Amino acid sequence: AKVMESARVSSQIRLADGVYSMWIETKDMAEQAVPGQFISMYTKDNSKLLPRPISICEVDREKGLLRIVYRVLGSGTEEFSHYKEGDSVDIMGPLGNGFPLSAGAPGKKAFLIGGGIGIPPMLELAKQLSCEKQIILGYRDCLFLNEEFHPYGDIFLATEDGSEGTKGNVLDAIREHGLKGDVIFACGPTPMLKAIKAYALENQMECYLSLEERMACGIGACLACVCKSSGIDQHSMVHNKRVCKDGPVFRAEEVDF
Ligand code: FES
Repeated sequence: AKVMESARVSSQIRLADGVYSMWIETKDMAEQAVPGQFISMYTKDNSKLLPRPISICEVDREKGLLRIVYRVLGSGTEEFSHYKEGDSVDIMGPLGNGFPLSAGAPGKKAFLIGGGIGIPPMLELAKQLSCEKQIILGYRDCLFLNEEFHPYGDIFLATEDGSEGTKGNVLDAIREHGLKGDVIFACGPTPMLKAIKAYALENQMECYLSLEERMACGIGACLACVCKSSGIDQHSMVHNKRVCKDGPVFRAEEVDF
């Protein structure tokens, strides 16, 4: 069973309006973490709020550090954004299943697609996947993290307002540049994932989606994350899956949007 750990904040900076990057000292979790997993963070008043699930953005095994990049969305994440170097932070993890690295074996051509706050988990994935990578990042307007992807592949940007890259969404960018690939790894808002699933089917691409935006408590306690799955068992029952326990990464065919 996972236990809560009181870890130390190594550093924190603001990346963009309401978006923060925090490095946390946690040797054990850094050793175990795989791309696409997340941690649960507790506020100082544990009794009041359920923990917040936050995806792992980077892992530094040598130094025993984990990096998270998150958006301030409520009082919990607001509290986290004020933490400074040396502060303690209560975390549990690494949680969830993560992306299957074997699906991006050398010789494959992969799309790594991130939308908004679904972008951070794609960074560690980009570092660890050894195949050819085309990285497609979608933003509303203000960019963050995009520069850090440069060492790992070709980057294509989309913004809703057209201020950078393709005007529109990540699929508009893929079409505009005529990108082709074998496998998709994606994380972002549900409408984006839904469109990517349809695109993958149409183009016969293997596709893995991280549904982390659907999570609330992250530890299987609130059932807010249940999604319909198209998997049918021997009793012809349609399974419901908890994104936080059975995911957050699913094969696109498994998810009924
Ligand atoms: Fe609460 Fe999954 S997020 S049960």
